Amino acid sequence: MRDVVSKLYRYRVPDLGIEFVNREYEVETLLQEHIRERGYEHLLVVTGPWGCGKTQFARALAHALDSYGNFVAIYMDLTEQDLSKVFQPLRSRVVETCMEIVLNVLGDVAKVPIQLYTFLRELSKRFRVRGAKVILLIDEVTKSLEKYGVTIRDFVSSLSYKIFEIRDELELEYLYPIAFTSDQTAVQHFLREQGKNMFTYLMWNLSKQATEQLLQKLECPLDYELVWKVTGGNPREVAELRAWRWNLDRYLSAKIGKVLPLIKLAQDLSVENYLREVVECVDCVKPYQPGIQLPEYIVSRRLIEENIVMNIDERFRKLSKIPRGEPWIGREYAFQTPIYYWILKTALETGEKPTPRKVLETIEENT
Ligand SMILES: Nc1ncnc2c1ncn2[C@@H]1O[C@H](COP(=O)(O)OP(=O)(O)OP(=O)(O)O)[C@@H](O)[C@H]1O
Ligand SMILES: [Mg+2]
Repeated sequence: MRDVVSKLYRYRVPDLGIEFVNREYEVETLLQEHIRERGYEHLLVVTGPWGCGKTQFARALAHALDSYGNFVAIYMDLTEQDLSKVFQPLRSRVVETCMEIVLNVLGDVAKVPIQLYTFLRELSKRFRVRGAKVILLIDEVTKSLEKYGVTIRDFVSSLSYKIFEIRDELELEYLYPIAFTSDQTAVQHFLREQGKNMFTYLMWNLSKQATEQLLQKLECPLDYELVWKVTGGNPREVAELRAWRWNLDRYLSAKIGKVLPLIKLAQDLSVENYLREVVECVDCVKPYQPGIQLPEYIVSRRLIEENIVMNIDERFRKLSKIPRGEPWIGREYAFQTPIYYWILKTALETGEKPTPRKVLETIEENT
């Protein structure tokens, strides 16, 4: 495990040009508790806040497990148009083989998850996989299902037994497909299919300590404590703040712009008080029910669809430690990053369009 973790840290995060931060806990939980041995295989669906680091985690893991022991770990990004960038780690021999299979047999990378058997059978013809521990990290899996009109229910059902059949036929030690998605509406469908050799996992933003490491590597000139309170350790939020050249006012203005239409919606539906309740207690969010046209449900759906709030309840297996005792994190639901919570709180308390300064005052008064 130590070898895997140290290789993980050598993975470079491409857009930031720094070495990968943390996620030791997630790797250990995944490889020691959930990816165990033959007979325990299942489809893992991993979700988490938008930008919490799922893609980078999956890529770093593929990198760390590449040529390690008898692992064959392949990452694939189903949104990538350029075939030479779909699979990771780029220089791995197995990846060249995967590309060749997509080119000559499947014709489209988006077919990999729905034709997993063909993909792996072809792989085994070209590459020795007998006795291997195969981990397939499939990023943005819903893109492929949408493209080919496969429902989540059918996808899960069809994989359910196929995992074992493929594993036996190809004489793998084990086979674990791991699908990543941020799409919270898709997650609702996956949650309903749980049990068919499939479980849904929740990954979270970086811990406070990891966020500090990230800020150090990025030479952030701002107060780390304040950045933590604003971003809740969401690395994409940190990256965005960096893209604003650490100008907190500009970053906050952009975030305020995202929240205002939601407040407008609640006002138009005359349920501003309900939104106030959600800010007091995020567990007041109504369950995601597309058919129900009651204003509270409409507002709740918007919160979920816009990646402002998400479910974090008992149905999820926890891949990360979820911070407790934060006003923006409940038992059943949580804001994906605290900044949305602070902006809503400011707007609803003052009854005015919030300014960055007011938002910062709210944070200061309440933490
Ligand atoms: N462990 C990490 N160390 C350093 N930077 C990270 C780490 N994880 C994520 N990042 C940064 O945060 C950004 C967002 O991460 P990533 O794309 O992996 O999130 P995601 O959860 O896959 O997002 P989405 O919900 O859009 O799929 C990355 O582009 C990278 O800059
Ligand atoms: Mg991603």
